[in-house]
Amino acid sequence: MYSNNEVDNWVKETAALTNPKDIVWIDGSMSQRKRLIDECLKSGELIELNQDKLPGCYYHRSDINDVARVEKCTFICTKSEKDAGPTNNWMDSEEAYKKLTNLFRNSMKGRTMYVIPYLMGPSDSPFSKVGIELTDSKYVVLSMEIMTKTGSIAMDTLKNSPDFVKGLHSKGNLDPQNRYICHFPEDKTIWSIGSDYGGNALLGKKCFALRIGSYMGYHEGWMAEHMLIMGIENPQGEISYIAAAFPSACGKTNLAMLIPPDIFKGYKVWTVGDDIAWMRIGEDGRLWAVNPEAGFFGVVPGTSMKSNPNAMMTIKRNTIFTNVVLTEDKDVWWEGINLPAPKKATDWKGNPWSPESGEKGAHPNSRFTAPAEQCPCISPEWQNPKGVPISAIIFGGRRAKTAPLVYQSFDWEHGVFVGATMASETTAASTGDVGVVRRDPMAMLPFCGYNMGNYFSHWLEMGKKISKPPLIFNVNWFRTDEEGNFIWPGFRDNFRVLLWILNRCKGKVDAIKSPIGYLPKAKDINISGIENKLSEKTLESLLSINKEAWDEEIKDQAAWFEKFDTLPEEIKSQYKLLTERLEVD
Ligand code: GDP
Ligand code: PGA
Ligand code: MN
Ligand code: MN
Repeated sequence: MYSNNEVDNWVKETAALTNPKDIVWIDGSMSQRKRLIDECLKSGELIELNQDKLPGCYYHRSDINDVARVEKCTFICTKSEKDAGPTNNWMDSEEAYKKLTNLFRNSMKGRTMYVIPYLMGPSDSPFSKVGIELTDSKYVVLSMEIMTKTGSIAMDTLKNSPDFVKGLHSKGNLDPQNRYICHFPEDKTIWSIGSDYGGNALLGKKCFALRIGSYMGYHEGWMAEHMLIMGIENPQGEISYIAAAFPSACGKTNLAMLIPPDIFKGYKVWTVGDDIAWMRIGEDGRLWAVNPEAGFFGVVPGTSMKSNPNAMMTIKRNTIFTNVVLTEDKDVWWEGINLPAPKKATDWKGNPWSPESGEKGAHPNSRFTAPAEQCPCISPEWQNPKGVPISAIIFGGRRAKTAPLVYQSFDWEHGVFVGATMASETTAASTGDVGVVRRDPMAMLPFCGYNMGNYFSHWLEMGKKISKPPLIFNVNWFRTDEEGNFIWPGFRDNFRVLLWILNRCKGKVDAIKSPIGYLPKAKDINISGIENKLSEKTLESLLSINKEAWDEEIKDQAAWFEKFDTLPEEIKSQYKLLTERLEVD
């Protein structure tokens, strides 16, 4: 493995502070992984699952206070508060280093410090970047080995360059009071302490690929987005790629892997990524995207052979299950798996559990960590160093009332406005209330590493530079009826909406110009063969816009924009145009 002075010095410096009992470099080999797994089985950090049924699979139970991202403990640390902007928690960088230095002092005492070099993105790609994570968590090492390309491949890419993202992580004592996830975008540095949960501890993912990544993208002219990437192949064998941004636990992984309904013969979906997209302008003037990750860190509850067979096939081997139900014969179970519940089992907290208990056996944010290459529909292009060209960008979220099933923005600038006003009900992916509507622009509210007002400007600037920009759409699979049931069947039936989107991209269907954007004509969304039959009338209601709800919506948008002192003029004028269109209507 290549040795790099800058890395060596930083490792030494960190060890002097955190005081581990020894230091182990992760080389990415199977033999080293095997040794680590054995150590975890001995210590109880992992439980071996039934290896005949689930080869290479392990069970992990987190601390009960450490089950999701914690946004209130997540900070953007810069010299000036303005650079973090109105939507991020800010800490002065010097103060943050000081505070966390005290917490990191001796935090690894009695533990091993692992040095994990990792590569984000395809090998030999202009998109790809190297990070190094120092951690005292074996669970983090084993998960990073699935989620990124670890070991020699990263050091050999880095060679003697000092250009890598420094990530320092310690479980500390898992005390939520002393939990900090601090980002220093100006130093390409991440310090995370007190949590072992994926989004807080696997530093390649949200911390680097989104928060530090978005900051780099802003300064270097590319985009780091909270988006799935998928290819849709038609019966003629042509593949179009789309990228979609939905907030956490709003359906990215499911959409990325869907199997089209049986009536759409000859169509196929290819998964490129399920959570993060790094996008650059190609020589052809289009927007090209890569998935910087190598694995899926997916929401478990609700995953079944019915809802997402491709995910179920992916997680049959070499997968870590966190906080699901553990059965007596060392199998796994969860709510929504669509299989009989085990009579006797252990729940995510480690307590005896039976389906009669009336309590959930799996945590609502229980997760699988699985290699992407195991996905039956993984795109042959997913490691293409050039990425894939994006034809459409889709925004979406959970809106019980306001947003129609789908609409198209008038143009890029209006599309940025649609993204900037996105809102969604909160989910269990982050600690705090669930089901509360909040603004989550481009699904990046928790992940933007700089001032969100400048982030909007960056989107507008990119639009000016992309000569063949993707069209921008908004979708909502989550509209509910009076009883609170989802009206749209969702899951594989979402493909019907994707086809309308692709038809729009190819100029094959016209649409209705409404105050909020182009709406489909109901006849242009094929609803034949839906299992519980959806009437044309219901579809029409899903495509309608409710005047009262939108009157409320524009008031709330005005209040939202009040927060920003660097709001681009284009956004202000788009807001004005929307209010005018709604009034005239
Ligand atoms: P991600 O976190 O954005 O990747 O979201 P997932 O794809 O993991 O889905 C999160 C949750 O939403 C899971 O419980 C899914 O079963 C559920 N879900 C996903 N897609 C749909 C859909 O189209 N309709 C409904 N009603 N639920 C969905
Ligand atoms: P998700 O990823 O978007 O698949 O839920 C984890 C997260 O955003 O915390
Ligand atoms: Mn996510
Ligand atoms: Mn997901």
